[in-house]
Amino acid sequence: MTKKDFIPKPYESSVQQGEVTWESPSNIALVKYWGKLENQIPANPSISFTLDHCRTTTTLNFQKKENPASDFDFELLFEGEKKESFRPKIEKFLERVEPYLLFLKDYKFSIETSNSFPHSSGIASSASGMSALALCLMSLEKQLDPKMDEEYFTRKSSFLARLGSGSACRSIEGELVVWGMHNTIYESSDLYGVPFRDEVHENFRNYRDTILLVDKGEKQVSSTVGHDLMNDHPYAETRFRQAHDNLDKLKKIFRSGDLEEFIKVVESEALTLHAMMMTSQPYFLLMKPNTLAIINKIFRFREETGLHACFTLDAGANVHLLYPDNEAEQTLEFIENELKQYCQNGQYINDKVGSGAKKLA
Ligand code: DP6
Repeated sequence: MTKKDFIPKPYESSVQQGEVTWESPSNIALVKYWGKLENQIPANPSISFTLDHCRTTTTLNFQKKENPASDFDFELLFEGEKKESFRPKIEKFLERVEPYLLFLKDYKFSIETSNSFPHSSGIASSASGMSALALCLMSLEKQLDPKMDEEYFTRKSSFLARLGSGSACRSIEGELVVWGMHNTIYESSDLYGVPFRDEVHENFRNYRDTILLVDKGEKQVSSTVGHDLMNDHPYAETRFRQAHDNLDKLKKIFRSGDLEEFIKVVESEALTLHAMMMTSQPYFLLMKPNTLAIINKIFRFREETGLHACFTLDAGANVHLLYPDNEAEQTLEFIENELKQYCQNGQYINDKVGSGAKKLA
């Protein structure tokens, strides 16, 4: 599909008012998206596990206006309170999606969101937040165009979410989602995420992710600034090629269930992401001493137990510990006894792979 396929024809139905609620999860990339071209096109393909517990719930209330305005008309509530600081991001999102949603200026909207994860935990909420909002807007479009089919609904939701935040396009479906053109991934696209449809070994079923909250502060570098650092980066081309190679490697690993190889790819991706930030101009060091302490503990844990916990990182200091379901008991004990001490206020979140966003009644 091309972006033209997402421009709607004039709507057949008319809708006066209503309300819709979607709950959408966060996701954790195994092969990272870092670097983008214009219009939120990724510089390389990425793949992520959709998460389960870390979710944003968004309710969109809409009221048709007597006279359509020239501006967007919306109010924002976050966990029950007015949130003006989110306004510029939402405004920008609405501007970007306007060519694809012809009704945006016909309605007065109220957007109410809340997160399942703790306030300012340093967890990126843009993926879950933007995907939940995109889904709500698509539910309204579906009322205006009742013949819309399921597949178009899902694809376009991902397409719109991407325009809000790239990684958000991987949060609509589960359990593994690929975003970005890749030769050997069926139907992969730079425009939206698609579920990974190849064989996946049972070792990866119910895979666990414990998010170790090392630093709950504001992000040092916004992801937009971060992605821009890949323009003119001395290692950019090599890195983009490597992402393609790592996706090919993971494809084989998902089939074979080889956890040793999985660890090698996933940890190398995390460290490469940080290496890109450390070698850009300006450069950033986003790991904290406790990030390194945790990583070293994980290496030791694997050596001593032969188990398969591994880490991955976002563009920050927190650590995602990934491990197989059947090793959960020992790994959770390890977290409590040896990793918790490095988390801010001892906080961590146990999550696992999930199946994607859900519409609430
Ligand atoms: C390091 O999706 O937050 O988490 O498109 O500018 O909103 P924008 O960027 P964003 O970048 C996420 C980067 C990452 C890696 C990943 O999730 O693939």
